[in-house]
Amino acid sequence: MIFDRLVKIAPSILAADFANFGAEIEAVEAQGADWIHVDVMDGHFVPNISFGPTTCAAIRPHIKTVMDVHLMIAPVDPYIEAFAEAGADFITAHVEAGPHIHRTLQAIRGAGAKAGVALNPGTPVSAVEELLDSVDLVCVMTVNPGFGGQSFIDMTSKVRALRQMIGDREIHIEIDGGVTPTTAPLVVQAGADVLVAGSAVFKGGSVKDPAPYGENIRAIRAACA
Ligand code: DX5
Ligand code: ZN
Repeated sequence: MIFDRLVKIAPSILAADFANFGAEIEAVEAQGADWIHVDVMDGHFVPNISFGPTTCAAIRPHIKTVMDVHLMIAPVDPYIEAFAEAGADFITAHVEAGPHIHRTLQAIRGAGAKAGVALNPGTPVSAVEELLDSVDLVCVMTVNPGFGGQSFIDMTSKVRALRQMIGDREIHIEIDGGVTPTTAPLVVQAGADVLVAGSAVFKGGSVKDPAPYGENIRAIRAACA
């Protein structure tokens, strides 16, 4: 995988048909998705439960692009191996999920995946300052994690500060939550390159009628151009 800072749209399958993940992923990739974002929730770190490593392994053969796994779980470390074995390209853990985020990031890289760290809206950017040599991606949450379809919380100044802090390191800045054609340009101008979007991509479409997925992806891309 070659690093670049081009805008990448990463549809979150949290907004897809849970009974049909394989076909949904193939449809949204055919319609122009760059990465597939996979939201794992444990009902403990966040107030919702989604799915775990078995589901990730089952959907992996349907993903041709990049499998971007966002772990909203605590603890993280006991499950890293399972998500790596499931074929995750990126595994992102929350800085708030435990006292030893540095160890977690080392374990993710040690398991052969790229390491991401996510920041809740209430967490300052300084929380990642000592982690920049241990991460491949920083995810700036623009909603409080747990649910799709929430409204965007403006974290533009956090993104700008992060972009400056990263300098020329090969670290992606990902935005997660409430991304739409209206909010996407704000964070892209501030330095983000990966845009997670659930509802804004999957709305209006289906496996049988996937064209709206493409229209929705192109609308986000065009708004940022
Ligand atoms: C929130 C998840 C997000 C979310 C994005 O807990 O991490 O990935 O599903 O969904 P939208 O784009 O609908 O805010
Ligand atoms: Zn997510």
